[in-house]
This record gives sequence, structure tokens and C-alpha cells, in this order.
Amino acid sequence: MIIAIDGPAGSGKSTVAKIIAQRLGFLYLDTGAIYRAVGYLALKKGIDLEDEKALVNLIRQMELTITPEKGHQKIAVNGEDITEKIRTEEIGMAASTVSKHPEVRKALLELQRDFGRRCNLVTEGRDTTTVVFPNAEVKIFLTASPEVRAERRLKELKEKGIEKSYEEVLNAIIKRDRQDTERAVAPLKPAEDAVIIDTSGMSIEEVVEEILKIVEKAE
Ligand code: DC
Repeated sequence: MIIAIDGPAGSGKSTVAKIIAQRLGFLYLDTGAIYRAVGYLALKKGIDLEDEKALVNLIRQMELTITPEKGHQKIAVNGEDITEKIRTEEIGMAASTVSKHPEVRKALLELQRDFGRRCNLVTEGRDTTTVVFPNAEVKIFLTASPEVRAERRLKELKEKGIEKSYEEVLNAIIKRDRQDTERAVAPLKPAEDAVIIDTSGMSIEEVVEEILKIVEKAE
């Protein structure tokens, strides 16, 4: 079974997907981390994020290792563990920029699909319900207002000891939303057959419970 969850930055999809994977004993795949790995490596090597050809070459040469661990995922590129390093908003924006390029998306598609062939999967991203796994048994689109998502991000950052202003975080969210929804290839949008859940006024547990009910029905 494949449970695919899409949604914008800060909609809660990573948190929720990890919990569901753990509860059901499914593999967890964070597809955003793959785009983040490409963004990270491109920045490190000084590659222009608009240079599609150079990015595709980089992808062909990079050695990406994704290791699922109890509802989490470890990711390494060329032997370097980048699991934590890629969680910054700078890398998030770089990931969003590299992900605009059709050839970049194409180069990363099979890698993602491979996971679905191996075993039961909970996956999350922007196009997992529409492009990567169009036949997923459960499709969820999580959303929340930009203001609520900015509050959540701010709280997360505070917990990590990073001080940012609310406006700064809100603007970054709005900018990334725009880039992810307006791109020509695989833009962020709900699949026709996805269940849309607005998580604005909901707790994580409430969202998890709602999705688990949908999963039960699909079994
Ligand atoms: O979910 P995230 O914030 O880690 O994703 C980082 C960026 O990667 C996101 O802004 C757009 C891109 N992305 C994508 O284009 N398709 C996916 N399935 C997942 C992420």
C-alpha cells in the first residue's frame, strides 16, 4: 500500500507522515529531502541553480543514499551525512529552485518510484499524489493558511535555538509557495482524487487520526 501526502511548506506533512509510518510499520520517504540534497550540493559546488544541464550532470554523478530508520529517514550525498544540514530555509529555497527544472525532476523520478516497489510506503512532497505515485491507494493534500504555517515554523526554529522574525518566516513561506505552485512541471496542487485536509485549527494527533480513518477505509 502507498499513502501519499502532498502539501505546501509548513502544512505538517512531514510530522504527520512520520507518525503514520511509525504506527503502521511502513517505510517513510521524504521526497523533499532529495531535492534538498541536490540544492545543497549545487550550492556547495557553486553550480548555478538555473543551469538545468549542470544540475542534471550533478545528479548523474552524485551518490545518494537514503536509509529509512523507524519512521525517519537518513540521507547522505557522496558519503556525507546531510540529514540535519539540509533543514534550513536557505536549502529549502534552493531545493524549490532546482525542482522547477523538468530534466531535474525527470532524473529523480525513478529513484522515488523504486521505494514504492519495495514495500508499504508513506511518502510526502509536492507531487507524490499527482506524478510520482498516481496509483497510490491513499492520497492526502494537507494545507493550512500561510500565517498558521509561519507560526509553526517559527516555533520549530525557536526550539532549535534559531531566532527569526515572524515576517521573515511568513515571507519565505509565501515566496516558496509561489515558486512551487506556479512552476510549469508537476506544480503543487491537489490530485483530483485526493482528500484535502485543512490543518489550520487541528492538532497533529487529530490530523493523524483523520488520515488513519481514511487508510482503514482503503484497506
Ligand atoms: O518538503 P520540503 O520543504 O522539504 O521540499 C523542499 C522543496 O523541494 C520544495 O519547496 C519543492 C521541492 N519538492 C518538489 O518539487 N517535489 C516534491 N515531491 C518534494 C519537494
